[in-house]
Amino acid sequence: MIPVNEPLLDGNEKKYLAECIDTGWISSEGPFVSKFEEMFAEFCGRKYGVAVINGTASLEVALYAAGIRPGQRVVMPSFTIASCAIAAIRLGAVPCLVDMDPETWCMDVAQTCRIVERGDEHTAAVMPVHIYGHPVEMDPILKICDKYRVKIVEDAAEVHGAEYCSEYLAAEPGATVWKKCGSFGEISSFSFYANKIISTGEGGMVVTDDPEIAERARSYRNLCFGKEERFRHEDIGYNFRMSNLQAAVGVAQVERIYELVAKKRQIAEWYKNRLGEVSELRLQPIREWARPVHWMVALELDRKLGLTAEVAMQKLKEKKIGTRPFFMGLHAQPSMRYLVETPEGGCPYTDSAYRYGFYLPSGLALTEEQVDEVCRELKEIIANAGK
Ligand SMILES: Cc1ncc(COP(=O)(O)O)c(C=O)c1O
Repeated sequence: MIPVNEPLLDGNEKKYLAECIDTGWISSEGPFVSKFEEMFAEFCGRKYGVAVINGTASLEVALYAAGIRPGQRVVMPSFTIASCAIAAIRLGAVPCLVDMDPETWCMDVAQTCRIVERGDEHTAAVMPVHIYGHPVEMDPILKICDKYRVKIVEDAAEVHGAEYCSEYLAAEPGATVWKKCGSFGEISSFSFYANKIISTGEGGMVVTDDPEIAERARSYRNLCFGKEERFRHEDIGYNFRMSNLQAAVGVAQVERIYELVAKKRQIAEWYKNRLGEVSELRLQPIREWARPVHWMVALELDRKLGLTAEVAMQKLKEKKIGTRPFFMGLHAQPSMRYLVETPEGGCPYTDSAYRYGFYLPSGLALTEEQVDEVCRELKEIIANAGK
């Protein structure tokens, strides 16, 4: 079986975990937690990091810390994981959905800006979600959110190390600057689930430059304990604390994050060399202002082929090749129907991507021979489609 993902844990992970056991520091009080927070925040170009139990909790912490309150609207793509909407809904906020941009597979930026421009006081935040390793086009969002004082709460779960070339944030007019995803807006959220570029098994982190936002995040992840009187809680918080064991793995992973990102880019290059010219499929487009990290090598089948992602994935499974489907749009989730705002014309690009898109084995342990095999089988499936 060629799995869709397999993490690489051959750095200092074992050594640091043994250190936790030997010293007895296994809870969130242990020293690896703050070390991991400092190292990862620095990697993102942020001042503060607050580590939590997973990327879903991290999104909730981020929205809470940014000050999002019940009844407020958070603009986000329909083409994303349920976690984005769930985080907003749990805080009583309303996910306001936009369709996918077929040229980035990230949120439709023009649609996003139009919603912010309405100037409705309930529109409190935009959540750019960088998809499959490719950044959202940030400049128009940064500009409009500055103008209307709307917060930016970034979901950078899938883009550790990706960069976006910004004119808006450059020091001088006419200049540009490359900025890491996870450095935009008020606060940014990451996941360290086992399939992410760096992993702690389960885990997440918010990063920010604002000390008050960081403090609110710390408070929310720790039951909002009272500052003066510990057991007099200041708000409804949760226990979202990351353990020292997870953080120990995290530190070992951040130590080699550039190497892991380089491996992801290498895998994408292997696939591009073999699939780039296949006219019946389209790999995720790369825009000139993006330095993606190719978290997952994803593709859309040409609908004229008459082959859906579901069928292609099943055929690959029979060849012992693991894949994952694309997200079903949030607008199409029966559980969310009455909890989200959907654009008038629906989200046709999201619907189409769901039907024809999937991603290929992309884990850090993947070899070029395995990529060869995946591409050979996929090409054969395409050649036999409709026969
Ligand atoms: C874009 C995005 N946001 C958030 C999450 C949630 O992270 P977690 O699985 O750690 O809760 C994921 C998970 O895959 C994700 O892809």
